[in-house]
Amino acid sequence: MTTVALIVAAGKGERSGSALPKQFAPLAGRPMVAWSHATLAAHSAVDEVIVVIGAGQEAMLAAALPGARHVTGGARRQDSVRAGLDAAAGADRILIHDAARPFLSPAVIDRLLAALDTHDGAVPVLPVPDTLVSQDGTPVDRAALRRVQTPQAFRAPALARAHGGWQGGEATDDAQMVRAAGGSVALVEGDTMLEKVTYPADFAAAEARVAMETRSA
Ligand code: CTP
Ligand code: MG
Repeated sequence: MTTVALIVAAGKGERSGSALPKQFAPLAGRPMVAWSHATLAAHSAVDEVIVVIGAGQEAMLAAALPGARHVTGGARRQDSVRAGLDAAAGADRILIHDAARPFLSPAVIDRLLAALDTHDGAVPVLPVPDTLVSQDGTPVDRAALRRVQTPQAFRAPALARAHGGWQGGEATDDAQMVRAAGGSVALVEGDTMLEKVTYPADFAAAEARVAMETRSA
């Protein structure tokens, strides 16, 4: 069974305020994309890691991860995933991970891949700690809601079908596409270390999280 991990790193990071696209910006002494690449490459169940980068980002990737396999992505996240899927043809299982979520633990990968024994896909989720209301102030039952992270794991044929048949507009993750195509997606326990770096303040929060993790290790 072949398992390929795609790291989508073709975004512009416009909300991050970073001089470099955020996925190449330094984070705790290492370019952001290099963190999750190291975890995926070291995992015994992962046969290959492919980084999907933006056109013109080749030199930034070479500086961050010399020799890493890469392909060129597209305008939307789902276009970048599609480019990665073309490069991963022949794989049985695909993991798709945001470069913007640097701190990935092997345990999350284990939980996702185990769930593929019984499901077409699996995603890590966390509960919502805040009280929630809709725009008009109506309370929303947070107990029924989950925040969805990456990596997301899929049986490759189900994922290919979902991308091939997608009729919707912009999709922020792949699980919604697989569900729309009738696939089953398991929810597994996520990890607070997997928070996405989106805004300027998230860099400092990520640095603090990794420092705390290092102290407690
Ligand atoms: N991504 C991608 N291709 C795109 C858009 C996004 O590969 N066309 C990747 C990003 O590099 C990131 C992940 O998808 O690792 C999640 O996207 P997001 O956090 O929105 O990153 P950006 O699109 O780069 O940031 P922004 O939306 O602030 O510009
Ligand atoms: Mg974006």
